[in-house]
Amino acid sequence: MAHSAGGASGLLRLVTAGSVDDGKSTLIGRLLHDANALYEDHLEALRKAAGGAGRELDFSLVTDGLRAEREQGITIDVAYRHFSTPKRRFIIADTPGHEQYTRNMATGASTADVAVILIDAQLGVVTQSKRHGFICSLLGVPRAVIAVNKMDLVGYREAMFNAIREEYSNFAARLGFVDLGFIPVSALQGDNVVSRSDRMPWYVGPALLPHLEDMYVGGDANLIDFRFPVQRVVRPDQHFRGYSGQVASGVVRKGDEVVVLPSGKRSRIERIVTFGGDLDYAFPPLSVTLCLSDQVDASRGDMIAHPHNVPRAERAIEAMLVWMSDTPLKVGRSYLIKQTTASVKASCVNILYRVDPDTLHRASARELGLNDIGRVRLTLFRPLLVDEYTKNRATGSFILIDLVSNATVGAGMIIERLVAPEPAATSTSPTASSHIVYQVGKVSTRERIKLLGHEPATIWLTGLSAAGKSTIAFELERRLITAGHACAALDGDNFRHALNRDLGFSPANRRENIRRVAEVAKLFNEAGLIVVTAFISPYREDRELARSIVGPERFVEVYLSADLATCEQRDPRGLYAKARAGEIPDFTGVSAPYELPVAPDVTLDTEREGIDECVRKLFELISQRFT
Ligand code: ADX
Repeated sequence: MAHSAGGASGLLRLVTAGSVDDGKSTLIGRLLHDANALYEDHLEALRKAAGGAGRELDFSLVTDGLRAEREQGITIDVAYRHFSTPKRRFIIADTPGHEQYTRNMATGASTADVAVILIDAQLGVVTQSKRHGFICSLLGVPRAVIAVNKMDLVGYREAMFNAIREEYSNFAARLGFVDLGFIPVSALQGDNVVSRSDRMPWYVGPALLPHLEDMYVGGDANLIDFRFPVQRVVRPDQHFRGYSGQVASGVVRKGDEVVVLPSGKRSRIERIVTFGGDLDYAFPPLSVTLCLSDQVDASRGDMIAHPHNVPRAERAIEAMLVWMSDTPLKVGRSYLIKQTTASVKASCVNILYRVDPDTLHRASARELGLNDIGRVRLTLFRPLLVDEYTKNRATGSFILIDLVSNATVGAGMIIERLVAPEPAATSTSPTASSHIVYQVGKVSTRERIKLLGHEPATIWLTGLSAAGKSTIAFELERRLITAGHACAALDGDNFRHALNRDLGFSPANRRENIRRVAEVAKLFNEAGLIVVTAFISPYREDRELARSIVGPERFVEVYLSADLATCEQRDPRGLYAKARAGEIPDFTGVSAPYELPVAPDVTLDTEREGIDECVRKLFELISQRFT
């Protein structure tokens, strides 16, 4: 398996970046020419030179990331060049430094082992040099080599080189490269490109090519977490059934127990089939067909993994997004997400901040424009099977497609969620001022889940006054706490007592009541708690608002059904009687409407089922979904 991201002799994927006139083409040309490198423009040539069926797949790994974009008809200006020296094979993603550089860089860097960033010695560190470094680190390129070029034009002076090295090192310290090197070169004169130059005796490090030839990248490949996104079901006849695709990460062996997601069906690997014959095991980037020992159904977009090491099924994701379209990204818009072989509609619920790539400062943003990079939150119409990008570049990345034009408009890298979803701006909630920047804490949702042993959830009870909301909420809270779960019940009367004492019962006031409650529930959820709310919440739209504030993945709408006559009969506090007597205006059910839930997650009939039964059902639902 030496060919994958193997040892120092394996393949090295480079991405080169530089501003216009930094001398990138000259450097690449010089590299190829002086090294007498075998320049293989032609794929067939590469295949032959590489030898062996496995090796040719390396190339497909590089191009696969692009295929999705190509299918969408977007032009990305990245040229892939292949060459080899006696010591190593190389693939260079050459990205132009001018227009649309972010998009090009993002594409070229998404599979690179190392970034070669050019800085013109005469100009020093410029904005563009920083952007390039930032984008590479964002895309998880683990190493960077800064080639300080045109040293001949600054008299090969050490001071010039040192100044650039110092400035850039300070900046890059925040980027997290595992390896950052600086080499003074003159691409034009050939100094320090292939061999050490005697015109810069003060430089004691290696020339560029030997540095790249000796670079060890073997530890990068994720061979731990097996992920196999199903591309196609292969069924030529009734005797054969297999799932074909590319191993995204990890190693799979014949006989392994596996699970097919999202169905959760288990089986074993019976065969690993390739064109060149069956294999005993497979690893990235091999394309194989897996045959399972049981008849389990799987289709494109499903994922095969080991049962004890599975990706997360998420209905909401947070990501760093590189925006690639002239039409800006806006909160509330919907797009199509493509991630591995799955596609699902998604909507942007929040732009947490935009990063200034020069200063790495975060600023609040209402939209992301062309080449902007920002942290966003998306809700998905169906769960996706994801990993964090830092752990898995294949299952942690996605592209966004415009639903109308079908163009690729963004590339995203999934990061661990730190915050709950922000509400979309509503008529009753003035949007935050642009001077307010959402602050992201240091504790992740997952850490809290681990600490408390359950996921946060908001159980939203709705129904008429006297339907049983408060009683059930407090009983459920009692039961959850007894079972060792962190929980808080929020009650309508209590809220109106203090936090919402300024609100009455007009539709607008009720909406603001619900908005604030949902915001509190969201904050409690962020802190890890299970929240049970007891509010009439008579308007459908307001309940939907609550759902979007809390986040659909953790919001459970529970309708406590009890008809008006029953509630009036119960009338524990005599409110219906007062409302009938005209003493309480706008009373729900009497002089104000209650809009029935259209598709509540749960309906509990409090006329037929006792309190205990209702509480038991909700407790079970929580146990199943959130613990
Ligand atoms: S909501 O409509 O905004 O969701 P909420 O649940 O907070 O209402 O408050 C309902 C409680 O307020 C009732 O249990 C009752 O005690 C009290 N209340 C007072 N006036 C009204 C009214 N006009 N309609 C409904 N409830 C009222």
